[in-house]
Amino acid sequence: MQLYQTKNYEEMSKKAAGIISAQVILKPDSVLGLATGSTPLGIYENLIDGYKNGDIDFTQVKTVNLDEYKGLGSENKQSYRHFMNSNLFDHVNINKENTNVPNGLEENIEFECDRYDNVLNDLAGVDLQLLGIGNNGHIGFNEPADSFTKGTHYEALAQSTIDANSRLFEECEVMPTSAYTMGIKTIMDAKTVLLVANGKGKAKAIKEALTGPITPKVPASILQMHKNLIVVADEEALSELNNNK
Ligand code: GLP
Repeated sequence: MQLYQTKNYEEMSKKAAGIISAQVILKPDSVLGLATGSTPLGIYENLIDGYKNGDIDFTQVKTVNLDEYKGLGSENKQSYRHFMNSNLFDHVNINKENTNVPNGLEENIEFECDRYDNVLNDLAGVDLQLLGIGNNGHIGFNEPADSFTKGTHYEALAQSTIDANSRLFEECEVMPTSAYTMGIKTIMDAKTVLLVANGKGKAKAIKEALTGPITPKVPASILQMHKNLIVVADEEALSELNNNK
């Protein structure tokens, strides 16, 4: 594991964006696994700046997102497809046909999970998977469970995730309670995993993920077994880890 501690969110975002840029510069047709949530927003801003400055070219890049709320389509501004379009894809020279997010509107669970796994198979491997972490240690929408998941699947969200993510929904909006998500095995198959975290709220999850027992009760703990894990986190997110030294 390579661990980069940054002073704050801005530095975390710059550092992580630099790593993604380097991946694309070294391999212009990279397959990037992308994440949503508030944590990667600064990274995407930096990538957009990199594109505008002429440092990064997305024309050959392909992307595959971790997850999508079940029941939300691209026209819904809370959907992860909408998030990706408005926070990254609409601002860089990526071909939208090369971007993939599970289809939250597909009612047939088996069909959608097979379809997304086929998309992943056709891409022949994710070069770099960006990951945030949930307060309960989830990655993608893989919630604490009795076993590690494999491929794309339907997931009922944990109450702690509903509590955490409902802050992003307006009062009049109904937050979905389930999602489609890439499985843990698919995430682990990525050549490089880039885990990012900021703020005190993530300190316990980061400590458990990086130093605790490897258990599906803390899905991110499996990342300890990844051969090429890069962690970029700010001082607050690493505070419990540092206290432990
Ligand atoms: C959601 C996403 C995760 C993300 C997590 C943390 O649950 N499915 O991929 O890592 O939120 O979000 P935030 O970065 O807003 O804390």
